[in-house]
Amino acid sequence: MIETKYLTVSAEYPEHEAISEAASVLNRGGLVAFPTETVYGLAADAFNDSAIRKVYEAKGRPSDNPLIVHIADTSSLASYTAAFPEVGWTLARTFWPGPLTLVVHRTNTISDLVTAGLDTVAVRMPNHPVALALVRELGRGIVAPSANTSGRPSPTTAQHVFDDLNGAIDLILDAGETRIGVESSVLDITQSPPVLLRKGGLSREAIEMVIGRIETDPRHDLIQRSPGTRHRHYSPRAEVRLVGKGNAAELSKTLAKPDLKTKTIGCILHSIREFPQASNVSVKVIGPELEKISHQIFASLREFDKQGVDLIVVEEVEEEGLGLAVMDRLRRASSRDE
Ligand code: TXA
Ligand code: MG
Repeated sequence: MIETKYLTVSAEYPEHEAISEAASVLNRGGLVAFPTETVYGLAADAFNDSAIRKVYEAKGRPSDNPLIVHIADTSSLASYTAAFPEVGWTLARTFWPGPLTLVVHRTNTISDLVTAGLDTVAVRMPNHPVALALVRELGRGIVAPSANTSGRPSPTTAQHVFDDLNGAIDLILDAGETRIGVESSVLDITQSPPVLLRKGGLSREAIEMVIGRIETDPRHDLIQRSPGTRHRHYSPRAEVRLVGKGNAAELSKTLAKPDLKTKTIGCILHSIREFPQASNVSVKVIGPELEKISHQIFASLREFDKQGVDLIVVEEVEEEGLGLAVMDRLRRASSRDE
């Protein structure tokens, strides 16, 4: 156990003192949790192998799952990739800083611990003053996976980070709730057409508007390219079951199952308004807009987990825009295969 320090920082105008303290922790090879516009990240100096090892350790992350390098300006791209393709520039101009991670061919100077030995590297420029200030203050890239214990829902508040990683990291920068609530979209632009390896905070439609058709249902061999998608993810401790959007009858039927009579159940709903009242069932209504649902979904799963419910029933959302990312996370949270 190490002592985890906790600092509050302004989300709009981060205080230089806090940023400078965080950067010196990174400089010493320590770990800092910090906010981005998507979820909280766990930062380490991208050029310090022993710090990167600590990231995997603190999260309990499988070593075959590579990390995203966070940058603050495109001039630093040359440290990570020798050939940033034209389509990358088009995307960067349009969407950076923002919730889009680009997978590109890597240079040899970047550590294998960052890329998990792949011949590509993932880079993104986050759209959050604290994240950008931290990268600038350190003066080089930071690697940052989501700041949760591996397999758990990603953290959208500093409290979530504390719940998972207190005692395992050096510092938590608290700048309030993250805006988007699901992680960045990961797009492999070494392929043509580019392949969406992870559906996230930037919608497929928005990307296609700018660069035309992309592949969104990668074939199996392409899944191999995104090791993260193989592992179990986003799961609360409770079992998760999904019910169709607006399907009050399916919800009632699910809750009426005899094996659930003795269980405590949390329901996360956005459009279903009629639900059976029972002492073992609590209901949380989120949304109803997709932006609000994505903003609240991980926090809601964590909240019911904290209450210790046995089962969480979640109403599905439409698979368009941010709904693609939300449904992807919900399906993974509800699958018990890995
Ligand atoms: O929004 C986000 O992306 C957050 C914030 C903190 O920036 N970060 C995040 O990192 O979600 P993480 O480590 O939880 O997820 C990174 C994803 C994983 O699915 C990983 O497999 C994939 O990016 N990835 C990283 N490098 C890759 C590479 N070279 N090729 C393919 N996939 C890669
Ligand atoms: Mg993650």
